[in-house]
Amino acid sequence: MNDAAIKLAPSILAADLARLGEQVADAERCGADRIHVDVMDGHFVPNISFGAVVVEAVRPVTRLPLEVHLMITDPDAFFDEFVTAGADSFLVHWEGNNNLHRTLQRVKALKKRVGVVINPATSAAVLEEVLQDVDLVLVMTVNPGFGHQHFLHTTLPKIRRVREMIERVKPGCELELDGGIDATTAPLGVVAGANVLVAGTSVFGDGNGVAAAIERLCAAIKQAANL
Ligand code: DX5
Ligand code: ZN
Repeated sequence: MNDAAIKLAPSILAADLARLGEQVADAERCGADRIHVDVMDGHFVPNISFGAVVVEAVRPVTRLPLEVHLMITDPDAFFDEFVTAGADSFLVHWEGNNNLHRTLQRVKALKKRVGVVINPATSAAVLEEVLQDVDLVLVMTVNPGFGHQHFLHTTLPKIRRVREMIERVKPGCELELDGGIDATTAPLGVVAGANVLVAGTSVFGDGNGVAAAIERLCAAIKQAANL
């Protein structure tokens, strides 16, 4: 997006995988800021998607940062292969990780950006202990595991709380939303305090094409950002 304040991260989970390179190149040309790669293992979430080979395949077709959202039970075991494949940042879940601090330090040791993710049922309060160690916070606005779900409006008060906490504890930390983001819900998230938006279906599933979809999203976001 041209509006530097809000960044758009199209999720390739919703892309036409038979034309993945083309779809990613389209997203870059149309103003995407980073590419979101959803990795699912069938255990942490009830769905399987793709692994490091897809990051490796996409790496040569775009200069955009590739952010890897790990919805897997043992993220620590896979950082090296994703880095070798070309990943620029990692999003790891608070849920199910008994040693999150160690996980975050591992990513930092690899000199990559790291974000912590919280599910819809997880309180913003848990972030207090990890905020200093992350570059971004991702608030899930659907339950993780599938694309094309409805944005959970019940997450909006939490998004506001996370924004307040960031301003108090770590200004400059990014606040990203993931799930059900479209031209109607994106403005709600931005007004609540988000500055990075993941969008899968609304970017790659729009019958009018990626360019029209991104244009529509950006117009809605800009209007909200100027409020
Ligand atoms: C859900 C994923 C999301 C998903 C977003 O588990 O983390 O990134 O692909 O897709 P949409 O935009 O279709 O909700
Ligand atoms: Zn995601």
